[in-house]
Amino acid sequence: MGSGAVKEIRVSELNTDEFISEKAKEISSVVGQGVAINALSGGVDSSAVTMLGHKALGERLKTYFIDNGIMRRQEPEQIVDIFRKLGVKVEIIDAQDKFFNALKGITEPEEKREAITQTFYKDVFAGLVRKSGAKYLLQGTILTDIDETVAGIKRQHNVFEQLGIDPQEAFGYKIIEPLVQLRKDGVRKVAEALGLPKGVFNRMPFPGPALSARVIGAVNRENIELVRIATSITEEELSSSGAFQYMAILHNDRVTGMRDGKRDFGLQIEIRCWDSVDARNARPSRLSFDTLDKLSQRITSEVPGVVSVTYNIATKPPSTMEAV
Ligand code: XMP
Repeated sequence: MGSGAVKEIRVSELNTDEFISEKAKEISSVVGQGVAINALSGGVDSSAVTMLGHKALGERLKTYFIDNGIMRRQEPEQIVDIFRKLGVKVEIIDAQDKFFNALKGITEPEEKREAITQTFYKDVFAGLVRKSGAKYLLQGTILTDIDETVAGIKRQHNVFEQLGIDPQEAFGYKIIEPLVQLRKDGVRKVAEALGLPKGVFNRMPFPGPALSARVIGAVNRENIELVRIATSITEEELSSSGAFQYMAILHNDRVTGMRDGKRDFGLQIEIRCWDSVDARNARPSRLSFDTLDKLSQRITSEVPGVVSVTYNIATKPPSTMEAV
């Protein structure tokens, strides 16, 4: 077991045109005259797979955006719009209730990941497979997902075979992973060569478990909305920082604050902003105090109930980038 069986293609040896035509051929020959589905999240991995799959299969690839209720503000509409302009039709599937029900009361990080995995693959995708008559799911697993899962650090929601899980047996369909030999830097090059806009091929990473990875403790619609507002503010304020990834995290322990001259036992938001090349190691960005001050001002005034804003100064390792 492990990623040893997968032959890595380093970015220095990657010929994007060759890679694209080879992978498109492979997808066509595996799927034959059949239908495949894929889920687009708007991240660079699933976006590259969407374009590759459409190159190979045209209309025989059905692309869905799963609205799980834990994405960022306006995310479904924005992504669908970007792909419409590229000539790719994307159908939004409202699965919010399914995800919130599955996540109800779960506090343990790996159990959250498992609930999301099961909901995506067993419930939502299996339903879409039945509806579309597809036998294959195309997905953007990359080598780093496999490494981290196999190392037991974080179970990435999209890794099965390396854990000894046969998707055909477990979920009733096969999974095709055209990007599995690449790391993020290679995927970005392929995405650019596939004609995706800069906002997509350079897009900041965002985890599969989405905002549920940014709420410590149990997830519900209310606390997701709070972290969604804090995320928008953080992304607006740090977009010009040049950092690899930045995020807001909602803690579940409260601290005493004061508002309008009264005691307010309020919420805490933690900001993280990482410098990194490939997410395997990372250091906190040396943001200016003015930037941090602006973040604190905005978060305490725009996110209801927040009385404390902190900035994480630990490196990865021993930290990880996401808090959950
Ligand atoms: P960590 O927290 O493991 O994050 O240091 C490294 C990179 O991976 C992303 N990440 C995830 N992506 N599913 C994903 O698709 C996950 O469960 C997951 N956990 C972390 C994280 O955003 C960072 O870029």
